[in-house]
Amino acid sequence: MNRAIAVGIVAVTIVGVAAVFALSGPAIEQPLAFNHSLHVEEFGAYCTDCHLYAETGIRATIPPLAVCADCHDEALGESEAEAWLVERIAADEPIGWQKLYSVEDHIFFSHRRHTTVGEIECAECHGDMASLTEPPPRPLVPISMDTCMDCHYERDVANGCISCHW
Ligand code: HEC
Ligand code: HEC
Ligand code: HEC
Ligand code: HEC
Ligand code: HEC
Repeated sequence: MNRAIAVGIVAVTIVGVAAVFALSGPAIEQPLAFNHSLHVEEFGAYCTDCHLYAETGIRATIPPLAVCADCHDEALGESEAEAWLVERIAADEPIGWQKLYSVEDHIFFSHRRHTTVGEIECAECHGDMASLTEPPPRPLVPISMDTCMDCHYERDVANGCISCHW
């Protein structure tokens, strides 16, 4: 193989790997092994039963303890994870979830505008969260200025700098 091409391929690979890390950041470990699939696919919970404002507010929000307490103020099963949760609820001690997705405060992003007005499915931006049996260490679908602008371009939505930056 031509040496310049080989060097080029290596350079592109390094840039690609660096870009994946820059987009997704270091792996996140959650304090509790929450199972989306069990709650959503098996017991039929809606996304908005827990992410209370994903269709009506700016931020979807990660569920506060009170949401879990609706069902888990006493143990329903035998798992250690649930026993830990029940203790937390009794002590009124928040779980301390780490956020996977966030944009800087000077970016304007509204969940309601995209889910309710734009009729975009959660999975289009977040991937198939419903099928996960444990918390993902990184976003399934990374979000960046490019992913915002690509979709706006495809769907003919305002893409001027001040639509999103203020
Ligand atoms: C029973 C409550 C519950 C339901 C129902 C639920 N979630 Fe979650 N969700 C959580 C908890 C707890 C976390 C944090 C732990 C984790 O990442 O698994 C979370 C994390 C997330 C995150 C990552 C948020 C971040 O930035 O850290 C996304 C995205 C998400 N859920 C989307 C969904 C979608 C889409 C649905 C519906 C298909 C859904 N969730 C249903 C409780 C729930
Ligand atoms: C609408 C009711 C409901 C809500 C709200 C709910 N759960 Fe559950 N959860 C269940 C049921 C039902 C089970 C199955 C219990 C069993 O038989 O083990 C379960 C099981 C669990 C388990 C044990 C099974 C496992 O995966 O190890 C954990 C941990 C858990 N839930 C965490 C949470 C957390 C954290 C929240 C709040 C973000 C939450 N749940 C909100 C109904 C609920
Ligand atoms: C158009 C893309 C898009 C769609 C559709 C979308 N989200 Fe999000 N989501 C984001 C972005 C961007 C963030 C980070 C927002 C921030 O930091 O303010 C985020 C953050 C979150 C978070 C972290 C907590 C929070 O409030 O920031 C959760 C949980 C979440 N989304 C759940 C959902 C659920 C559930 C749905 C479907 C009902 C959904 N999202 C639909 C892009 C999207
Ligand atoms: C999957 C497609 C998609 C993605 C990804 C997406 N958007 Fe959008 N966005 C839309 C659509 C569609 C609308 C128009 C909704 C409506 O009003 O009908 C919209 C509207 C907006 C608006 C209002 C625009 C105006 O001037 O009226 C803002 C601001 C916005 N998006 C910011 C963002 C940001 C910031 C991100 C990335 C974090 C993002 N969007 C990612 C599809 C997307
Ligand atoms: C559709 C929404 C959207 C549009 C339109 C947009 N941006 Fe961004 N921009 C973002 C998001 C999201 C980020 C990432 C912020 C983060 O990582 O939290 C970003 C990041 C940036 C950054 C990196 C520094 C920072 O603020 O984090 C610069 C510089 C920037 N944008 C400039 C521009 C310019 C100039 C334009 C117009 C040509 C523009 N943007 C249009 C959404 C947008």
